[in-house]
Amino acid sequence: MVASGARAVARCDELGVAPYSDAPDMLFRAYLTPAFAATQRAIAGWMQQAGMETRIDEAANLIGRYAGTGDGPPLIIGSHIDSVRDGGNYDGPLGVMLGIECVAALHAAGKRAPFPIEVYAFGDEEGSRFPASMLTSRAVAGTLDPADLEVGDRTGQSLDEALAPFELSTLTYAKAAHGPALAYLEAHIEQGPVLESEGLAVGVVTGIASQLRYELTVTGRAGHAGTTTMSLRSDALTAAAEMVLAAERIARDAASDVVATVGRLIAGPGAPNVIPGRVGFTLDVRSLDPTRRNAAAEAILAEFEAVAARRGTALATEQVNDFAASPCDPELIGLLSAAFGDQPQFSLPSGAGHDAMTMAALCPTAMLFIRCKGGVSHNPAEHVDPADVEIALQVMLGFIYALGDTQ
Ligand code: HGY
Ligand code: MN
Ligand code: MN
Repeated sequence: MVASGARAVARCDELGVAPYSDAPDMLFRAYLTPAFAATQRAIAGWMQQAGMETRIDEAANLIGRYAGTGDGPPLIIGSHIDSVRDGGNYDGPLGVMLGIECVAALHAAGKRAPFPIEVYAFGDEEGSRFPASMLTSRAVAGTLDPADLEVGDRTGQSLDEALAPFELSTLTYAKAAHGPALAYLEAHIEQGPVLESEGLAVGVVTGIASQLRYELTVTGRAGHAGTTTMSLRSDALTAAAEMVLAAERIARDAASDVVATVGRLIAGPGAPNVIPGRVGFTLDVRSLDPTRRNAAAEAILAEFEAVAARRGTALATEQVNDFAASPCDPELIGLLSAAFGDQPQFSLPSGAGHDAMTMAALCPTAMLFIRCKGGVSHNPAEHVDPADVEIALQVMLGFIYALGDTQ
C-alpha cells in the first residue's frame, strides 16, 4: 500500500483498541504501561517498513530515523502516543502516523531529503499518568529540571519504577536531550471547530496558548451525615464546588480567550453517609496572552482562598505546569503555507497544548492542523476524514521539499 492519509487513519484506529489501550472499555493509553509498550512495538514495525531505523531513547520515546543525503541537524516530525482517559484515536498518533507516511512516500520514491528526518512518538504529552505533562518532549528539548522527574502516579508508583520495565531510569533520563535540530513539524487534529466552520481541510498554526495547571486540595472535616448539623459542618466538597463555579465565572467574565477548567475532582472518603473531609481537584488556565492567563489564574486562586476561609476549610495549591505561549516560526509558517498548493490559505492559533510548544526551546517549530468532526476531541467521538489527512500528507511532503530547497 503506497503512503497515504487513509493508511495513517487506519493505523490510528488499529491502535484505538486492546492491546493498545490500558482499559477494556475505553481508549486510555498512559505513558510506560503495557499498552504503551505494545503501541511502541506496532509503530516501530511501521517505521521500519517505511525504511527507518528505530530506537527508544532514555525518556522512552520511540524514534524512527531516515537518513538524508546530508548528515546535518535533522527535521523532526512528531507528536505523542499517550492519550487522555476515554480519549479519541487521533489526538497524537495521527501526527506520528503522518510522519511515517512522509518517510514512506520518500522511501517508495527512492528519494532522500538533504537532511535526516526523525519521527518522534513522544511518550508523555497529556500528563494522564504523572502530574506534569510533556515530560518526554521536554526531555528531548533539554528543558527538564531533575526535580520534574521526582513524580509518582496516583497508584503511588514513581516515574523511576515505571521506567524500570523499559530498562530505563530517571538517572539517565536527561540523556534524551537532542542535539541541534533543523526544525520541528507537528501535524495534529485541530481539536476545535474553526476549520470545519470555514469548510477547510487544513490550517497553519500561528502559535500555541500559554498554560498553567494546578493540583489543589481542600481539607474540611469528615463527619457523620446524619448527626452533624449544617451549621457545624466543614464540608470540603461544597467548598470545592463553590470554587469550581468561581473558576468558571471568572474565566467567563474575562470575556477574552481565557479558559479555565477543573478536569478532575475526587472527594474523600467517598461514602454516602460521610461529610467529605478532603477534596483533590485540578485547575487548568490558558490564554494566548500570558498576561491575561496570569491575571485570570491569580483572580481564581484568590477567590479559592476566600471561599476556603469563608467555609472554614484549608486550601493547599501546587502548580504543576507553567507553559509559555509558543509562537510558531515565521519562516516555517511561510514554507508550510506555500506547500498548501490549491488548498485555501488559512492560519489559526492553538488553544490546545502540543509537544511543539516544548520543542520550540530546541529549534524552530511549525504545526499543521487537520479538520476534525465537530471540533470534538478528548472524547471517543473524535473523528477525522481520511481525505483531509491525505491533503495534510501532501502539504507535509511539500514542506519537506521546500525546506530541502533552503539547505
Ligand atoms: O491539554 C492539552 O491541551 C493537550 O491535549 N495535552
Ligand atoms: Mn490531548
Ligand atoms: Mn495532542
